[in-house]
Amino acid sequence: MTQPLLQISDLKIVFGVGEQAAVAVRNVSFEIAAGEMVGLVGESGCGKSLTCRAAIRLLPHNARIAAGSVMFEGRDVTRMGHRELRNLRAREVGMIFQDPFTSLNPVFRVGAQVAETLRVNLELTAAQAKRETIRLFTEAGIPDAERWFAAFPHELSGGMRQRVMIALALASKPKLLIADEPTTALDVTTQAQILKLLRRFREEHGVAVLLVSHDFGVIAETCDRVLVMYGGHVVEKADIEAVYRTPQHPYTRALLASIPQMHTTGPRRRRKSIDGRPPESGEVLPGCIFEPRCAYAREACKSVDMKLEPAASNQYTACPFVRAGGEQRLEATVEGAQ
Ligand SMILES: Nc1ncnc2c1ncn2[C@@H]1O[C@H](COP(=O)(O)OP(=O)(O)OP(=O)(O)O)[C@@H](O)[C@H]1O
Ligand SMILES: [Mg+2]
Repeated sequence: MTQPLLQISDLKIVFGVGEQAAVAVRNVSFEIAAGEMVGLVGESGCGKSLTCRAAIRLLPHNARIAAGSVMFEGRDVTRMGHRELRNLRAREVGMIFQDPFTSLNPVFRVGAQVAETLRVNLELTAAQAKRETIRLFTEAGIPDAERWFAAFPHELSGGMRQRVMIALALASKPKLLIADEPTTALDVTTQAQILKLLRRFREEHGVAVLLVSHDFGVIAETCDRVLVMYGGHVVEKADIEAVYRTPQHPYTRALLASIPQMHTTGPRRRRKSIDGRPPESGEVLPGCIFEPRCAYAREACKSVDMKLEPAASNQYTACPFVRAGGEQRLEATVEGAQ
């Protein structure tokens, strides 16, 4: 097998130290191959952004990687020196942070901000950086790029701002783009345009994408594979088609049942929200962390190990009950998925 672009193994992210320490992400393992588009989905607070930030070792100041490894093209990101890390962030991994509003400084013109980043990261002259910024804006679908070059962030619509962030993240032609909820604040039409743009960049430039969303529909439309996260764990890892046809974790099944069915004809099926609340940050439960909300829970679930193991072809689950064929493998299909 060829070496993955990004390989995260047994990642554990902890806040605080000593008695106050709380584990936010644990046992997270996955890989992304060159040119692959992988989705990361889960409810708010499950650890999606922290996992993304760990890939470039840019965690909040009170968080740390307490265990596991993060390898980029075979190099260990957790052990990189300052220069190597800077190079990784500037040239190899493009990142679109969750809140595009805080990523742009309100008092500077957008073009100047992007151009300055290009000038420093790619060692360009000011004139080259300006030309490259306008070219990138145009490629990212910003009409009349020269005019928008001189705009201030507040003058841009949400979709336009996101196009600027995509242009910036892709400026150095990274091998991997991490896009954390890039369409969450956008209307449906603009969301579709941004997703199309990401797919186009993947096709034209071969950039691999890790796309984060709490919306399974967004991931399903865009990605080859998906990682389903719950309470700091990856509970399922699978090809998109397989996960739709036969989800192998009760949480995945519940998530799928909670999205509107866009592609079904006939009577609209009612959406089912997931009962109960997600775990608090750092909450530790014996056994499976989804057990209190799981429709299939049984006594044994309070002592199971949530390790991701193969359940079917190209499908891994952290639910030993499903792996053993329980509840006819979660009733074989999801309502409305076919
Ligand atoms: N700086 C911080 N200090 C303490 N706890 C934090 C901090 N940042 C995140 N957390 C906690 O870590 C957990 C995971 O956070 P993370 O931001 O990765 O979630 P997420 O899946 O991206 O959520 P969302 O969908 O809302 O963006 C959450 O419970 C959150 O409250
Ligand atoms: Mg987040």
